[in-house]
Amino acid sequence: MPQNDNLTLRVRNIGWEADGVLSIELVAPDGAALPPFEAGAHVDLALPVPGGTVSRSYSLCNDPRETQRYVVGVGRDRASRGGSRWVHEHLRAGALLQVTPPRNHFRLNEAAPAVALVAGGIGITPILAMARRLHALGKPVRALVAARTRETAAFVDEMRALVPGLTLHLDSEAGGPPDLRGWLATLPHGAGVYCCGPAPMLDAFERSCADLGLTDAHIERFTAAPAAADAPPAGAYTLVLERRGLTLEVNPGKGLLDTLLDAGVDVPYSCMEGVCGTCETRVLEGEIDHRDGVLSALEKQRGDVMMVCVSTCKGQRLVLDL
Ligand code: FES
Repeated sequence: MPQNDNLTLRVRNIGWEADGVLSIELVAPDGAALPPFEAGAHVDLALPVPGGTVSRSYSLCNDPRETQRYVVGVGRDRASRGGSRWVHEHLRAGALLQVTPPRNHFRLNEAAPAVALVAGGIGITPILAMARRLHALGKPVRALVAARTRETAAFVDEMRALVPGLTLHLDSEAGGPPDLRGWLATLPHGAGVYCCGPAPMLDAFERSCADLGLTDAHIERFTAAPAAADAPPAGAYTLVLERRGLTLEVNPGKGLLDTLLDAGVDVPYSCMEGVCGTCETRVLEGEIDHRDGVLSALEKQRGDVMMVCVSTCKGQRLVLDL
């Protein structure tokens, strides 16, 4: 993993939370305090799967006031490319893992007059940390937690204790996904709304928020946005690194990140899939073709940052603050 500020942490405990969901508690081997985190933050774990090491992002679900530990929830993804399967089948308490310091692209606006949280499946993890934070602040919050079945619904008791009146939606019992638009429509104007879950839920959430004029809306994706895979190949363009006074050519065969690395530019990166946010870079000029799952629709529209691992330039020239 190309980061030099990684932490080596001990797996102190592995807990069973629901069918296909484990919680992993990570601590410093010497018991030292860990870098602080905010609700919504994630860490990347370097997982030694067969054939190499893969980096996977997991949201922190414990209370951000806890300084001695990180807790992540890992759902067993049936389409796993090795990361979650390895965690479920091979990770043991006592193991040491390389872990990035927490990063947050899913920040709570604590000044919002009202807050509503929506979680689907393992997307409950950052939502749980947000519920803990809001509870600590004494702020009223509404929440909708959805899961496929009662057996796979993780952390529901913790959420219920934090959010009285929690709406629990089980697809298997309701006969389909929740009516997000209907639920969101009952929120007061100006509410801050947050959603983490599978792609169809996030898409429905974004559409509903746009329809209802809920502009303080935030999502966290844990897989690459579908557009990243389906997007047409990018053309060649000129890349200017403003602070270095360097001009490079990016050609379609070599993406932006590789062009930067080959030129000796030390850009931090981790997932290489547009989901972790590590490679976020300020853009000074140029029309960005956003292909990541990190930035919100509003942030993409603003066009002042991009994830250089997957995103590209729609035009002939891109100027980065590097
Ligand atoms: Fe993860 Fe770019 S490296 S978003």
